Parts: sequence; structure tokens; C-alpha cells
Amino acid sequence: MQQPTQGPDAPSSSPRYQQPRRGWGNPAPLAPPPPSLDHFPPLGKENPEGKQRSPHSVPSYQRADQPHGQQPHRPKAGPLASNNNPIAPRRFDRRPPRLPVAHYEQFFVEQAANLEKVAKSLLEEISPPDEETVAKNELLHLLQGICRKLVPTAVLIPFGSLVTGFSTASSDIDCVFVAGPLNDPATPEVSDDLPALLERSLQEEDFDAQLLTRTRVPIIKMKQRAAPGIGEIQCDIGFKNFLAIHNTQLLLCYSKCDVRVKQIVLFVKWWAKNRHINSPYRGTLSSYGYVLMILHYLINIVQPPVLPNLQLQPIPQGTADSEIHYKEGGSEYNIWFAKDITNIGPSPNTSSAGELLRGFFDYYSYKFAWGQSVISIRTQGGLLTKQDKDWCMAKSRPANTSDGAETWEVKDRYLFALEDPFETVHNVGRTCNGPGVRRIRDELRRAMDLIKFRGDGGQRLERFLCEEAPPERPFVKKEDREPKDPNASMSPGAENENAAEEAANSGAAAGGKAAEDLVLDTLDAVKELSLNS
Ligand code: CTP
Ligand code: MG
Repeated sequence: MQQPTQGPDAPSSSPRYQQPRRGWGNPAPLAPPPPSLDHFPPLGKENPEGKQRSPHSVPSYQRADQPHGQQPHRPKAGPLASNNNPIAPRRFDRRPPRLPVAHYEQFFVEQAANLEKVAKSLLEEISPPDEETVAKNELLHLLQGICRKLVPTAVLIPFGSLVTGFSTASSDIDCVFVAGPLNDPATPEVSDDLPALLERSLQEEDFDAQLLTRTRVPIIKMKQRAAPGIGEIQCDIGFKNFLAIHNTQLLLCYSKCDVRVKQIVLFVKWWAKNRHINSPYRGTLSSYGYVLMILHYLINIVQPPVLPNLQLQPIPQGTADSEIHYKEGGSEYNIWFAKDITNIGPSPNTSSAGELLRGFFDYYSYKFAWGQSVISIRTQGGLLTKQDKDWCMAKSRPANTSDGAETWEVKDRYLFALEDPFETVHNVGRTCNGPGVRRIRDELRRAMDLIKFRGDGGQRLERFLCEEAPPERPFVKKEDREPKDPNASMSPGAENENAAEEAANSGAAAGGKAAEDLVLDTLDAVKELSLNS
């Protein structure tokens, strides 16, 4: 017999509805599955008494000012919300009416305008005075003279914020000692005893200089005493950090592409310093890391983009190989990026720095997937996954100090994954430990809450956004937590180095990066220790 295909006797398309119901007398057949799970109100709740709703009645959950197609948040039904409870608040009456989208846009404009105002007044305050920049350049010149007494062809190449223009009043000088011109194959290697000789020369010239050797690469940390009108200037002299010279040039080129880059970087750096989330040795992020976060937002996230991807620009014919490849320590790096930005043209994005800052805080507060994504500014789209890079689990590996005497374990952490644009095995965010990442994220959300606050013309934002956070707990070495021999003495320098080493061990100087980076972090540790003492 032919089965009916329609009507009550037709078989259900789903086998589930063919099951005979057990028990409960004579049950009614089950309703067919809903065509869509996005059904609202929930199935079975609609019109429970079987009454016909007037075609003109407005459901209680739909406000008159509700924009078309936008459903309000439905509060969960709790015990108080029961229909039988006389004191139960009426469902959907508890929240203020939602505002139409147009109103939100107006708030974004208001928030961005407040932020722009705050940023403008702050930038004037935090940019280092011209005299300080002049003094830093003079100090660099003086130091180069001292180096040349030891190696006549020596050059001190600056990198970091002094070159990029991202320095604030408290920024130090970062530089690297090279025994001759950088790209000249005839330039000799720096001899092993040179760092100690240079330390002595600097001390003879009355500088407060200290050579750190309990690091993978030696580094001299020195400072020039404060002069009238100019504060103390700190300077770090490294002996191998050549990739940093290239990545500094990349940052400088991005800064030249658009004036808003520098404004945003200076603001975010100042905010991060004051909120104490810019201390690599305490488990948070370096200034360089914050710059990479900003570049990712400006290249890949904001629409239209503010910056082009300079590393993805075509390589012009005839470009020297030294501009494309760089070899160091047995590894080769692709260091190509477009340096001629005159062909690139201005960005079609005309947002103010305030609007972009708002977007930056919003993106990292609510949209960026901290657990899964890797920021990779060299890549199309700017994001990779931790799986792609095998950056899911922390890894430990042994490391040697520059004097060859000691070894320690460094930990490569990937809680916050921020790929270096050239040294792609290096996670710039590796200094961030669990509490550090949480603090950075909390601070981003705190900033966003302040930005969203409205109705006071931005006064609250101005007062609290970059307000100095309460002091952090002083850094205590592991061995200091244990009772120690009161007769044991240690020079303050050695103590600093030990602390720096521990900082290195405890995560500030984890691996997956060049030894030079380790040195930078270790120096951060020493710097902060001396500031705290
Ligand atoms: N650097 C690096 N890898 C890191 C950290 C730093 O290569 N993990 C290099 C970069 O070239 C960077 C420079 O070191 O530009 C200085 O880093 P940092 O001190 O973090 O940035 P600055 O812009 O100098 O910030 P500040 O003004 O706070 O000193
Ligand atoms: Mg610096």
C-alpha cells in the first residue's frame, strides 16, 4: 500500500518523532522540530492561554524606541520572576529602555572627543623637553669618543625610543657598540675583554657605570648625573643587539607614515607606565610590546587602515641583499620592509587620535582573543593562532651566561603572544606571566569603563585614566624570603645582578628570543631595583 505523503498519517521526516511514547496514557503526538532555533519568544511560551493577540498590541518586551530588528536583553527568570509571585517585578520592566543605535554613535563621538582632549593636554606634558633630547645626543657623542679611545673605528648605534621619537621624559638611551661600520664585512668582532675595558674607561671619566656579565651577553649600564634643568640620564650599552637596530628603523618608518602613530604611542606608553603595567621583569610588557600592539591595531583592525603593512610591500628590483636578509648566530632573518614611504600616500582614515585611542582600548578590552591569537604585524591580517606557531605551552630551556660560568633555565611563555616582526621565533610578550596578563587586561577594561563614562564632559576620564596606580609590592628575591646568614655580605652590584638574574629566571627573561633581548629585560630589572632602593 502506498504511504500517504501529507496529512496526519504521513510519516515524520525525523526518526525521533516515530518513537512510540511510553506511559502517560494516551499522549498527544510530539510537535515537529522548530524550523529555526532562533525563535523568540521561546517555543511553547508563545500565547500560552491560546488567546489571539491583537494585531495592534505591542509585546511588553518591545519598546517603542527599540530600533528595528534589535532585541533587548532578556533577564533570566528567577524565583522572583514567577507569575504567581505578587511581589515579582514585572518581566522586562527592570531595565532602562535601550537606546537606538544612533545614540550610541553619538556617545562614541563624545567619548572620543573627551579622550582627544585628555591626550592633547597630556602629550604636551610628557614629551621630553628639547634640552633633554639635546643632552641625550651630546651624551651619546661623548660616549662614542670614549669608545674610540679603545677602538678607533668604534661606533655607538642608538636604537629604541631615542631614535623612534617615542621617548617620554623618563626614557633611557639604548645603544649598541660596534667595532666599525655595521654593514662593512671588514668590521672586526668585539673582543671579549672590551666590555670590561670600556667599563673602566667610563668610571675613569666619572660616570656611574656597571658591567653586567651574569647575562647571556655583556651589557654596560651607566648613568649621567642630573645637571641643572636636566634630570639623570640612563644609558644601556649593548654589544650585539643588531636586530634591534632594524626593528627600530621599522618603528620609525611607521611613525613617519602618520602623525597619529606617535601621539597614540606616547599616550599608551604613559598610561601603561603610570598604571604599572610596563615592567617586563615584574611580569608585564615592555614599551616595545605596547608599540607592536598599537601597530597591529592601526594596520589590521581599524577600518580603513591608518597604516599600510610595510613588510608586505613589494621589493623593488635591485634592492641590496643586505636590506632583505640578515644573518646572526647561525640564523637568517627576513628584515625587508619598505623604507621609501613617499610612494605610499596618506591614509584614507581621517579619525582623530582620540577616536583611534578609543578603538584601541575597545579592541584589546573586548575583541582581541588573548587566549588563542598571536599578534603578528608582518603577516597579512596581523593575526596567527597559537596552534599555528606551536605557542600553546610554556617551554623551559637552559641558557648560559656571558662569562660562561653559570647556567639557568629560561622559560618561554606564551600567555600573551606577540611575535617580533623580524625574529619570528621570539615572543615579545613572553615577559608576561599570568598575573601580569590579568593586570594588563584589567587595566584595559578600567580604561574602557572610564572612556564610556558620560555626562561630565570627560572630567572623570581626565582625572583617573592615567592616574598613578598604587605602588607595586617591592621585588623580593627568592633567597630573601628565606632566613639567611647575617654574616654573609654581598656588594650592592652583585646583589643587583643576582636579582636581575632571578628576574631573568622568574620570567622577565624567558627565551625564544635573542640573547640581547634577555639583556634588555635583565637591565629593566636592575633599573627598577635601583629605582626602588
Ligand atoms: N627590543 C627588542 N625586543 C624586545 C624589547 C626591546 O628588540 N623584546 C628593542 C627594540 O628595538 C626597541 C628597543 O629595544 O625599540 C627599546 O625597547 P624599549 O625600551 O622597550 O622601548 P623604548 O621605546 O625605548 O621605551 P622606553 O622609552 O620606555 O625606554
Ligand atoms: Mg628604551
